Amino acid sequence: MDAGELEDVEIRLLLEGLQRVYGYDFRDYAEASIKRRLSHWLAESAFATFSQAQSDLLRDPQLFASLLQGITVNVTEMFRDPAFFKAIREQLVPFLKTYPFVKIWHAGCATGEEAYSMAIVLNEEGMTGRYRMYATDIDEAVLQRAQEGVLPMAEMQSYTRNYQKSGGRASFADYYTARYDRAILSAELKAGIVFAPHNLTSDAEFGEMNVVLCRNVMIYFKPALKERCLRLFDASLLPGGFLCLGLKETLDGRETRGAYQELAPGLRIYRKRYG
Ligand SMILES: C[S@@+](CC[C@H](N)C(=O)[O-])C[C@H]1O[C@@H](n2cnc3c(N)ncnc32)[C@H](O)[C@@H]1O
Repeated sequence: MDAGELEDVEIRLLLEGLQRVYGYDFRDYAEASIKRRLSHWLAESAFATFSQAQSDLLRDPQLFASLLQGITVNVTEMFRDPAFFKAIREQLVPFLKTYPFVKIWHAGCATGEEAYSMAIVLNEEGMTGRYRMYATDIDEAVLQRAQEGVLPMAEMQSYTRNYQKSGGRASFADYYTARYDRAILSAELKAGIVFAPHNLTSDAEFGEMNVVLCRNVMIYFKPALKERCLRLFDASLLPGGFLCLGLKETLDGRETRGAYQELAPGLRIYRKRYG
């Protein structure tokens, strides 16, 4: 067995151990990407091999927390893929407006920018007070940051451009207060959002959702885990509800495909059929 194969065995044993001890299951994450991230963590750690690290990782929750930070990819931005948010505003919100109240689940919300962008769209479209968003992630450290709603000031120029491209109607600067190098998002955006931990590998669905967004999360998963997530979202969505995936993701070829029609071709917004 060469060194690479031995490391594969060590990684498999480690992932099995982490699942048993902490209940976090990374065994169905896409192999190349999890291997890359674990190797990066190992190189920065005091350990020479995964076998050496395993004993401490299984006993020390704080060390495990640092590994978790290394595994998850938390990159996000306000109005990420502006064309997607334009379609949300112009094609999806008109349906939502026909309900007195809507529930929205952001699965894998990272630091919350996607949920805050959605809140801006809904408020501008006259839905203030008529929605509740559940924004969830496996990573409690990013949820903490999401809750704070503080963004780096350096990003505001590019976020303003995204906002305008997505059909934004106001001045993006109205939604935050600048404080030195940070932008503090306004309290009215936070009012309708509940941030909570949720693990897509093991936790149950959220009931009676009108919209589920899971963008740029399942790209890190193997096909079987993708199917699990899609079944979870299907069980969460009301008939006539909407499923939004990332631009590099698709329902094509998946078990649940037949239950949906594509609302905005190319933008990965699907509507669940009635019956
Ligand atoms: C690249 S971010 C996507 C953020 C946002 N949805 C977007 O598109 O900008 C992926 C997020 O998925 C989360 N994630 C990874 N595995 C998860 C799991 N099993 N359950 C829930 N969230 C998970 C990560 O912690 C990370 O914050």
